[in-house]
Amino acid sequence: MNKKIVILPGDGIGKEVTTEGKKVLEKIAEDFGHSFEFDQAIIGHDAIESTGNALPDETLAKLKNCDAILFGAVGHPKYDNDPTLRVRPEQGLLKMRKELGLYANLRPIKLFDELLEASSIKADVLRGADILFFRELTGDVYFGEKGRKDDGNTAYDIMVYQRYEIERIAHKAFQAARTRRKKVTSVDKANVLESSRLWRETVQEIGKQYPDITLEHQFVDSAAMKLIRAPRSFDVVLTGNLFGDILTDEASQIAGSMGMLASASVGDRVGLYEPIHGSAHDITGKGIANPLASILSVALLLDISFGMKEESETVLKAVSDTLKAGYRTADIADANTSKNKILNTQSMGTQILEKLSMASVSLNK
Ligand code: IPM
Ligand code: MN
Repeated sequence: MNKKIVILPGDGIGKEVTTEGKKVLEKIAEDFGHSFEFDQAIIGHDAIESTGNALPDETLAKLKNCDAILFGAVGHPKYDNDPTLRVRPEQGLLKMRKELGLYANLRPIKLFDELLEASSIKADVLRGADILFFRELTGDVYFGEKGRKDDGNTAYDIMVYQRYEIERIAHKAFQAARTRRKKVTSVDKANVLESSRLWRETVQEIGKQYPDITLEHQFVDSAAMKLIRAPRSFDVVLTGNLFGDILTDEASQIAGSMGMLASASVGDRVGLYEPIHGSAHDITGKGIANPLASILSVALLLDISFGMKEESETVLKAVSDTLKAGYRTADIADANTSKNKILNTQSMGTQILEKLSMASVSLNK
């Protein structure tokens, strides 16, 4: 298959981890006889520095004209410490999501058995947890009207949802549940928020078209608690943009580390794949970032955008085999054992490539 992929490294460790992700794509192309054509573009802080715009037109044009996007992260501490700056790296990411119509963000929380001890949650509570989040990505307070009034002394961000926005992501969540354990937990704050009451009403309506799926509703505060107390009780979680942002960072602890969580953002056209972690400037340049979230994002890309199931599973297996062999980046190392072999970003990438080579030898047998 011939495919065009845009690599969008972004800022901070985004660059370091996507370098490893891209190598995995190249290796898969080679082993499975595909032709992947790569292009690269700028976004975020880097793009602001060179063009004054967090998502330059040239970048957007490339993104609109490709088959899939592998993205790193955006952000810079300079902006975090100065909320008055008007042009900000995150605007690039938000504009990209909106312009490409990427309304559904899939965040699988998959726990590799080898990492049971890396989590701060008890192994007995975690074992077997497997959750798929559907976070709505182009609505909510992120995109509602926002502003200041009263001479800057009052600020507002409107939480707004339209019925069609809820319907389309609800369909995706119910359809995914059909391929899993057939349960959808919709998370909202319908005891307080009108937008959540529309959310709940709409999800209930759509749910009638999926009688084979069990639908339950939880308030976000209670869901946050249950995620840690009983992670196995969740299958598919369907939620809005802000609640989904917060709950998936929390849920990353079920998988051991933010450095393990991949995500897929999909809509009507091209798909975008990225780790859920940010640019992490505190560790940028040290070469210690975990590239597995980017590599697992590659597995999602192959599966969802290209329909390459076998290729995707080969990548997942390479990650699992690498962990089984005891290789870890610092964030997922278990302090209670001396069996871990701690690798930097690049050598973790190299380990994955080696495991892929072994898989391709057995493929060609
Ligand atoms: C994420 C990030 C972004 C978000 C930021 C960087 C704007 O936290 O992808 O989860 O809030 O959506
Ligand atoms: Mn986030």
